[in-house]
Amino acid sequence: MAKLAEADLIIKNASQLLTIRGFSKRLKTGKDMNNLNIVENGAIAIKNGRIAWIGKSKNVKNNISLRLKGQMIDAKNKLVMPGLIDPHTHLVFSGSRHEEYKMKIAGLSYTEIHSKNINSGIISTMKATRNASESELVCSALERIRLATQHGTTTIEIKSGYGLNRSNELKILRVIKELKKRSLIDIVSTFLGAHTIPPEYRNRRELYVDLVISMLPKIYKEDLAKYCDVFCDNLGFTIEETRKILEKARNVGFVLKMHAEQTSYLGSAKLAAQLGVISADHLDHISYEGIKKMAKRGVVGILLPGVTFHLMERQKQKFMECQVKRMIESELPIALATDYNPGSCNTLSMQMIMKLAAVFYKMSPEQIINAATINAAHAVGMADEVGSLEIGKKADIIISDVQEYGELVDKFGYNLVRTVIKNGQII
Ligand code: NIG
Ligand code: FE
Repeated sequence: MAKLAEADLIIKNASQLLTIRGFSKRLKTGKDMNNLNIVENGAIAIKNGRIAWIGKSKNVKNNISLRLKGQMIDAKNKLVMPGLIDPHTHLVFSGSRHEEYKMKIAGLSYTEIHSKNINSGIISTMKATRNASESELVCSALERIRLATQHGTTTIEIKSGYGLNRSNELKILRVIKELKKRSLIDIVSTFLGAHTIPPEYRNRRELYVDLVISMLPKIYKEDLAKYCDVFCDNLGFTIEETRKILEKARNVGFVLKMHAEQTSYLGSAKLAAQLGVISADHLDHISYEGIKKMAKRGVVGILLPGVTFHLMERQKQKFMECQVKRMIESELPIALATDYNPGSCNTLSMQMIMKLAAVFYKMSPEQIINAATINAAHAVGMADEVGSLEIGKKADIIISDVQEYGELVDKFGYNLVRTVIKNGQII
């Protein structure tokens, strides 16, 4: 008899194993979003942190043997799937905005809170973050990453953007670099120096744009970030400023991202398509034309329903339900993210976001799961490594206490994930 392949870890008897395979090289859009490539009563074997075999549980014994000291997990009545990917967070910051949230409860909009006084909104977090030491920021961020991981996130994108001057933006990017070394999950780093105009540049915004541009070469050279993002918005940067910063960033070597059409319609989705950014995020005021242009260019649309929820933007819900339907019909690749930050969305749970995508956008469970895994992996340039269960890819796997994937968007408000495996290690 032929020698069986050896594994360090075998998970078997999963009621459903969602592989989501076949889209590591291309974005998942349209009707493909309805498919999860499921193995019923499935099993998966892991060797050296990578996926070595996938099949039916009954075929394990004829194909795979466990190495000495290897581990077997019985996933009976459980759901096995790729780890969740959170492709948009502002996870490194200090302070809290819960006092400000009382204004939200009293009926003020996000924009009104920002115009309340010179220290409110993003600037309040900027001040607290400028005052925090690097080690304080590392500690609080590690705890947040731990929480996100507990809820199933195995790859996360983190933006700078609460420093808003040279020394503090570099400080945050160094913190993210340190997090990469100290955390078990994969971290993707994004420079968001163009988050908003800091108070000291309020009347000379063009100088702040120049400052951001002048920081690009060092950040890129020192490998402090691979992506460059701009908050293109009335609270952030104009279309022309955004174009100027992102064109320079592209010339330096960055891959581009944008916060687009968040608080009002500016035509930023069209700019995102023109520039060929990897993702344009928020999109709450996107036009049909913007959708079609982004779809044609293959820009991932990252939807952030936690913001709509946290900021109580009821008026956006019907519009977005209609636009998301158009996005899918237009073959726009959709991903989901938390946008975790202290002002507009204070959750680290991708499970919560998945629920909200069902409630606000009426996305199907299949569309939601694809958006939180393989398309989210594409949005951070990591689809070759993560986002689906396929031989050779990283063994990033979550086991949830549900039997069918539909339950993932049905149940809410408590953690359904029981086991998180990153690079083949149970964490
Ligand atoms: O993505 N929109 C800009 N930035 C964040 C919010 C930042 C904040 O309010 O602190 C966002 O929503
Ligand atoms: Fe954001």
